[in-house]
Amino acid sequence: MPTASNGKWMTGHLKEFQKDPLVFMKTLANDYGEIVRFRLGPFQKVNLITDPELIKEVLVTKQKSFLKSSDVQSLKALIGDGLLTSEKELHMRQRRLIQPAFKKSHIMDYAQDMIVTTEKYIEGWEDGKEIEITEDMLNITLGIISKTMFSMELNEGYDLVGESVERAMKLAVRRMRSIIPLPLWVPVKRNREYKLAKQALDEVLFKIITSRREDTEVKDDLLGILMRARDDHDGTGMTDSQLRDELMTIFLAGHETTANALSWTLYLLSQNPEAEQKLYEELDEVIGEGTIAPEHFTGLSYTQNVISESLRLYPPAYVIGRQVDESVDIGDYHIKKGEMILISQYVMQRKPEYFEEPNEFRPERFENNFIKSIPAYAYFPFGGGPRVCIGNHFAFMEMVLVLACISQRFQLKPAFDASSIKTQPLITLRPKPGLPVVLKKRE
Ligand code: HEM
Repeated sequence: MPTASNGKWMTGHLKEFQKDPLVFMKTLANDYGEIVRFRLGPFQKVNLITDPELIKEVLVTKQKSFLKSSDVQSLKALIGDGLLTSEKELHMRQRRLIQPAFKKSHIMDYAQDMIVTTEKYIEGWEDGKEIEITEDMLNITLGIISKTMFSMELNEGYDLVGESVERAMKLAVRRMRSIIPLPLWVPVKRNREYKLAKQALDEVLFKIITSRREDTEVKDDLLGILMRARDDHDGTGMTDSQLRDELMTIFLAGHETTANALSWTLYLLSQNPEAEQKLYEELDEVIGEGTIAPEHFTGLSYTQNVISESLRLYPPAYVIGRQVDESVDIGDYHIKKGEMILISQYVMQRKPEYFEEPNEFRPERFENNFIKSIPAYAYFPFGGGPRVCIGNHFAFMEMVLVLACISQRFQLKPAFDASSIKTQPLITLRPKPGLPVVLKKRE
């Protein structure tokens, strides 16, 4: 197995990885090819895999040999045993229970909520006003997840759930990034704050669940569907505490990723006037002056390609990590229990073997079933196999509709210096320092 130079004797390549994981992984991929081993910290051996066939073995054919990586597992303190963090039988059962809530017919119902929420939000936008794209996109996607999940309106959802989620999330990220997270029972300020934030969030969620159990009206939002879900195998549903974990998980997994993808998309359009013009032309032709409807989605093929191309260049989930649970052969390489695997969408989706002029924004490349012409795991913004993003169709529909609603009415004129915009790889990939723009009403 190719091995990267040793790095520092104690920390291996930890410093370089933390400084800029994207550049670090890209350089390793260029220098070593389909697989390379390096060390993070004194003991953790990590294997970066950059070949689509080998990635498929990890995500699909040999997925049973892996667990979620330890940073994802550390989120358990906050989101419990929801879909993102649960493993093995529990994960399979929860996936069976939840999958139906994300089927096509339901997504069409959510689509209407996505449009109404966005239109309502942009009613507050005026010609000449300066906004900060990343903030507004977070507000919109938070509004959409609150509405589709709990039937709550924008502010109500944020006041009740969003604020506590954000507070708890910030603390969870801080915990995840500290090299040695102190066990939660150690009575330091950081831990106390974290526990309080989690308690506040639990209270809110259990209150919502209890009042819904008492409600006689049948609601078709995500919460309603999850509450009525029964397992085909044993006929049982979810307990309140399982529901709480799944609600938290979907709420967390389901808004920041989409907000970042939308921010990058609007950024890319602002830098590519031809693509922007083509988008306007499609919207004018397919929707015209009227209100957008879920049925417009299929006709918006260029808009869809804009989103696919944006997810290629700036995949919000830029890396997938796995812990090796039992020693396994991936291709010709033997990987031992306890080692880690990294697979990076960011690295794969900018490879010149699969994407001509890989750093350019070209939505047209997705025309004529392009995706079928490249290997399955050369482009995978939503992951793959049994742990593929359960919200992939939901998210795609959401991004297309939000972008359509915005671009039907406004052009966003950059008030930022494009050369200063950098990728900030936190849990998801964010534009930094931010994207201030001036709104221009489209005639
Ligand atoms: C652009 C938006 C999104 C992107 C790029 C994205 C990406 C991903 C990726 C790559 C995974 C797999 C992680 C792994 O294998 O370790 C994942 C899992 C997941 N996503 Fe998404 N996601 C997005 C939006 C959403 C939305 C809108 C929801 C819910 C409404 C959602 C819910 C989930 C859940 C629950 C999982 C865990 C699934 C499982 O392990 O069974 N995501 N997402």
